[in-house]
Amino acid sequence: MRVLVTGSSGWLGRTLVPRLQQAGHDVVGLDPVPGPTTAIVGSIAEPDLVERTVRDRAVEAIIHAGALHKPDVARRPAADFVAVNVQGTLNLLEAAVAPGSPVTRVVFASTTSLMISEAIRAGRTGGATAAAWITEDMADLRPRNIYGVTKLAAEHLCRLYHQDHGVPVVILRTARFFPEADDMAHAIPQSDDNTKVNELLFRRLTVEDAADSHIAALDRAPALGFDTVIVSAPTPFVREDCAALIADAPRVVARYFPDYRALYERAGWSMFESIDRVYDAAKATRVLGFACRTGFAEKLAELRSRGGTP
Ligand SMILES: NC(=O)c1ccc[n+]([C@@H]2O[C@H](COP(=O)([O-])OP(=O)(O)OC[C@H]3O[C@@H](n4cnc5c(N)ncnc54)[C@H](O)[C@@H]3O)[C@@H](O)[C@H]2O)c1
Repeated sequence: MRVLVTGSSGWLGRTLVPRLQQAGHDVVGLDPVPGPTTAIVGSIAEPDLVERTVRDRAVEAIIHAGALHKPDVARRPAADFVAVNVQGTLNLLEAAVAPGSPVTRVVFASTTSLMISEAIRAGRTGGATAAAWITEDMADLRPRNIYGVTKLAAEHLCRLYHQDHGVPVVILRTARFFPEADDMAHAIPQSDDNTKVNELLFRRLTVEDAADSHIAALDRAPALGFDTVIVSAPTPFVREDCAALIADAPRVVARYFPDYRALYERAGWSMFESIDRVYDAAKATRVLGFACRTGFAEKLAELRSRGGTP
């Protein structure tokens, strides 16, 4: 298929484009930042460019990953978020449903972040007595920043364009896969690797898994019509763990991985004291036939094979 990938110079885009090509797709990358995986240097906020690209390149599918996201919140005004994340998404959907458009499907890279209110984020220090068990059914969403608000607005545009025009759209609410060190309160200051491996228990995936989930969604979109799916590494936890996860996360982890404490001790690593949310990615397996290849169990096995050396 001829696939338009927006955000093709970004962290996800750079990983996704070669994988799509390996899968036999003909890829057109679009991003304002030039790069080896970007054919068209430009913005999705420009409707004419988007319309021309889809028409002239005979685009059959769109993977929409271009966005301003969380790191941009501190450096870009809210209006830029609306222009790129909302108007940019609208421009792509308009082009996808234009008369004679060859587009047969759209995959939208959304975020689990739009399901996280200030109350969930405050966790135990904010008075929570149980971790939030988060599925796609979560209602009354109250995104806590302009990033989440504009991503949620874009999701609604996707739903509306499917409803009104029938174009198949799969929304992937992806957990974090960014490579930067974390600025969150729960981060382990001594080791970013330690932080990221801990997060694979409940709120992270690798960028390779993120890319592969978009390819799985591309394949399944026509059969699904419209759907919203959380993507995160498979969690070992169950709903019944939620109270214990807030109160004493290391104890819960030790129940599932009895040798983790010894391995972590040898590595000089530590577990988060409290876990505030768990993203349940079970639906991805059910509807996309997709599960992340790398999770906490795999990373712990690597640590074990190195005798606890990180
Ligand atoms: N990184 C994460 O942890 C994470 C988690 C959940 C969802 N996401 C989503 O995944 C997607 C990719 O994220 P990423 O981590 O690769 O971020 P990134 O910042 O590395 O990549 C985003 C790309 O979008 C491009 N972009 C910005 N404005 C654009 C415009 N007007 N037109 C076209 N492209 C534009 C940027 O230049 C950049 O190359 C984003 O939609 C993001 O919201 C990311």
